[in-house]
Parts: sequence; C-alpha cells; structure tokens
Amino acid sequence: MLTRNFRPSESLDSVFLPIEKASGLPNPCYTDTALFDLERSQVMACNWVAIAFENALQDNSVHPIDFMGIPILLTRSRHDQVRVFHNVCSHRGMRLVSESRKISGLITCQYHAWTYSVSGDLVSTPNIGGIGINTLPDFECSGKGLKEIRSHIWMGVIFINLDGQAPAFEQAQRPAIQRTNELIGKSGEREMRTSREDRVDMVVNCNWKLVVENYLEAYHLPVIHPALNCYSPLKEHHCRIYGQNMAGQWTTTFDPKLDDGNHLPMFPDWDPEMLMIGEYPVIYPNLLMGIQANHIFLGILYPLDVDRTREEFQIFYCRDESFDKSYDKVRADNLSTWSNVFQEDVEPCERMQAGRQSPGYTGGSFSPALDVCAHHFHQWIASHYRAKSDTPGNDPKFHQDSVNGSVRDTAKTPDPYGFR
Ligand code: FES
Ligand SMILES: [Fe+2]
Repeated sequence: MLTRNFRPSESLDSVFLPIEKASGLPNPCYTDTALFDLERSQVMACNWVAIAFENALQDNSVHPIDFMGIPILLTRSRHDQVRVFHNVCSHRGMRLVSESRKISGLITCQYHAWTYSVSGDLVSTPNIGGIGINTLPDFECSGKGLKEIRSHIWMGVIFINLDGQAPAFEQAQRPAIQRTNELIGKSGEREMRTSREDRVDMVVNCNWKLVVENYLEAYHLPVIHPALNCYSPLKEHHCRIYGQNMAGQWTTTFDPKLDDGNHLPMFPDWDPEMLMIGEYPVIYPNLLMGIQANHIFLGILYPLDVDRTREEFQIFYCRDESFDKSYDKVRADNLSTWSNVFQEDVEPCERMQAGRQSPGYTGGSFSPALDVCAHHFHQWIASHYRAKSDTPGNDPKFHQDSVNGSVRDTAKTPDPYGFR
C-alpha cells in the first residue's frame, strides 16, 4: 500500500463521524512505513511515551534503547538519579553506548574516546588538537555534551517527551494519576515490588495500534479468552474514557480464584468494598495497565516496524511480603494466567494485520456499545495525523468519563479537535 493513495487530511473524515456511522483508520495506517515514520514525529514525539521500566537500570549504569529507530540512552548515577539522553556522540555522531552496563562514572565513546559524565557533560576530548593535545583554545566542552530528553518516572515506568513541548506529565496524564491513586492509594506506588520472574516479553507481528485497539475492548472475551471470560465475563465489563489520553475497560467481578485461600497482600489503601475491581486502561500512546487489588501489570509497547511490535510486561505485587515463599505458587499461577491471556491475543492481532492488506477493507465499523474506546483511540490517532499545528495539546473538551460504569459515547460529543 502506498502513501500516494492516502492523503490524511481527506481520508480520515469518516473516523470523526458518530460512532454508529464511523469507519476506522484506513489500511495504510497499519501497513505504510511512511506513515509509521509520521507517527514517530506526530504521535510519539509530542506525547509522553513509555520507554522502559525503571528497574532496567542498576545504580551507576547505562542502558541503551532504540525507540522507533531513535537511539536513546538511559543513565542512573550513583546518587540514583535517572536521566535520558540521545545516544549519540557529539563528535562524529557514533551511537555512543551499544549495551547495558555498569560504568565507573564516565562514558567513553569507542571511536575517538571523547568522554562524558553520567550527567551528560562532555569532560574530555583526547588528542583534539593533535597527539597529546587534549584541549583547544577555541573549543568549549560546555554545550557539547549529550542532548538530554525530557523524562518522568511514574509507576516504575520511565516516560519521555521527545519534542519537549507536551504539557507536564502530571497535567497530560492527570486522569491516569488520579484514577490509580483512587484505587491503590497515594502510598500504592511506593509499595509496588516485582522480580525477574514476573515478566512477559514477546514480539507480535502487527502494527502497535492493533495491540492497543485489541486491549481497549472486552468484546472479544468470549471467543478469544474463554477461560478469562468464566471468572471475568464480558457482561460485567464496561467501557470507560478516563480523559484525553486514557481509555479502557473495567470489571467489578475479577476473581480468578488462584490463591486457594492463601490471599496475596492487597494494596493497603484499596477499598475493601471494591475487592474484585479490575481496570484495564491504555495510557496513550503505549502503556497498557491492569490494576487489581493485589497486583498490577504494566505493558510497554515498542513499535519495531510498521508490522512488528514488542510487548514487555511486568507484574508488580504489594510489599516484600508478597514474595514470601508461601506465595510462590500463587504468583507463578498468576503469571501463567496473564501470560496465557496475552498469548491468546497474539493471533487475532496478527490476523487483523493480515486483513489490513485487503483492498476489501476500508476501516470497518464499530460497535456503538462495545467499541467506544477503540473509536476514541482512532480519533486520537487521526487528530495527530492531521496537521500537528492544528492539534491542541490538551483540549479540555476531550475529557470525562464514566466513573460508575455507564458508557460514554464519544461520538455524541463535539469533535474534540475541531476536525469534523
Ligand atoms: S565519534 Fe565519538 S569520539 Fe569520535
Ligand atoms: Fe484480549
């Protein structure tokens, strides 16, 4: 599929129709590498993107990541300060660090040995003026250090804002922060613990947006997740749009009965009246969340290519006591249960990707009852595709909510970005 057949400003109109009449994003949004590149700048760079779990970084270490082809370097100083830089040497532009490692406080380029502090300052330029001449009168190291990227840590996840222009994280993701605090309490984030075993890492052969769209709806539960649908049935799931950058589904009946009476510790501030709530939002663009009374899983999506996405999940429990030996089995069963659910989603996502090669598909339709969040996400993406300069960063109209479970139909609201 070629971009010449697709002009975003014209072909996205149907996405903004009321949900009953709307179509989804056209096929090239999932298959065209030029649009994948456009998303890097117009969807990812201008928002807060989840880039890594904080626990990927030991003290005094560096951790390189390529995000949609952009080389990025995470550093943690011996004073526990995490910073994010463009992973490129200021001299001739070599990718500076190629593997995670502990450092002695300095990062030396493996080409001509220019050296940086863990804070990104350029501290040494050996032989810059000739053999044995390491400084030059007209060459200032200051201002030639590593280029820092705006970053923020929340819920053990490092987020970056590549263009530096997004609203502050606390403002851009206020609904996510508020809702998480309502569920696990303000102390909850501090109580989160995980281990090397509580992880799932997989690559799915589909565009990253299909993973998001699949996660945003429970419609497929009976067919794709029959076991999950037994203890968390579709009829008890509700769509919810939490705010401009967050939507998902939630249930009041999550109870897999894994623990055989050996109850894992709950988050201390969790409301005992809401023990079986499970919430499954996506923090746009690329963080999946699953929040339950005694554990949280978080999934970072890394778009590898237009049709390939890595998903990295970690499961967090509450306090060290969750890792007592007596809970080994219930944690192992929980990991295997969620891992099966994530795996069950792979085939439908990959088959949707295959379907995006069909000239017989032009964005499809939405269920006005059960695809509300997918429609919201399509509008969010389509708004970013259109001229970025026309896209308000934090439009208050694109907001709220169905706190008590009633479905908010975005199609009945004004066009949040003024593009209809
Ligand atoms: S490219 Fe890094 S020192 Fe030359
Ligand atoms: Fe699923």
